[in-house]
Amino acid sequence: MGMESKYIWMNGELVEFEKATLHFLTPALHYGVGVFEGIRCYSTSSGPAVFRLKEHAERLVNSAKVMGFRDLAYSADELADAIKLTVSANGFDECYIRPLIYLTDGGWNLTVDAGKPGVGIAVWKWNNYLGAEALEAGIRANVSSFTRHHPNVMMTKAKITGNYANSVLAKTESMRLGFDEAILLDAHGYVAECTGENLFLARGGRIYTPPTVDILEGITRDALITLARDLGYEVVEQPISRDQLYIADEVFVCGTAAEVIALREIDLRVIGAGRMGPVTRALQQAFHATIRGQHPRSAEWLDYVNAEAPVSIPVRERVSA
Ligand SMILES: Cc1ncc(COP(=O)(O)O)c(C=O)c1O
Repeated sequence: MGMESKYIWMNGELVEFEKATLHFLTPALHYGVGVFEGIRCYSTSSGPAVFRLKEHAERLVNSAKVMGFRDLAYSADELADAIKLTVSANGFDECYIRPLIYLTDGGWNLTVDAGKPGVGIAVWKWNNYLGAEALEAGIRANVSSFTRHHPNVMMTKAKITGNYANSVLAKTESMRLGFDEAILLDAHGYVAECTGENLFLARGGRIYTPPTVDILEGITRDALITLARDLGYEVVEQPISRDQLYIADEVFVCGTAAEVIALREIDLRVIGAGRMGPVTRALQQAFHATIRGQHPRSAEWLDYVNAEAPVSIPVRERVSA
């Protein structure tokens, strides 16, 4: 898998990769009670920089809050420092970062209060999630037979590990059918998001994206809305129907893993010209410049790993929130 690194941060310490293991009876594994983040660190001329670290650390802590964890030992700022420490300890210029807060120590009666939250942070080399070719050519998607979570069944603002069984069902089906990615509709039948990406369409020079009620509030989505408005595009958040995708000029998806990728075909219908269109290209270029430290928005959104590398991580006693 190429996911190796030297160290994984586990509950306040850097642990050798092979030793970062959990017991079979860790409740998170049985009930999907964990919350996580997906973050990327990019190589820039000023060294490695984490994209929107503060927002990711805050979303992680908010996911824990939504899940009901009450005795987190670390604040968002401490987790952000631990993330930078993990990146610099592993010596990567560029990497994917995976923090995870998981229910451990007991918890067999289906409440988070029966156990304790543990925290780990892993980093690994990960280039193109949807393949190098997708960057230019775009990918082929289907509308999934699986529905995205109703927002009162699973909490869609939180990256809860158990939520992702829905993504795995949809993505597996999509790939077995010969597509690259699945688009999920919400419980009302409107377009929600993909298995790990938010979705946009362009039509008549305007950009549209579904409102956030039942999707993950993507940090890349937020960045693209800002970059699009900087470029003078009008961005409208409104419910989108399946057939509005078919007749769009362009459809594209975005996320930390996927970055910005065009959907050139949906449900065997060619979208627009059948390749990446000008709006997607402009946003993909602006996004790539931003993450490389070459855009006016870079200063605001990049957190340089070596600028003030934390020396040690304070390990507080667990406190009740
Ligand atoms: C379901 C889902 N939607 C959207 C996204 C995109 O979010 P972000 O841009 O914050 O990575 C992700 C990836 O984290 C996701 O898992």
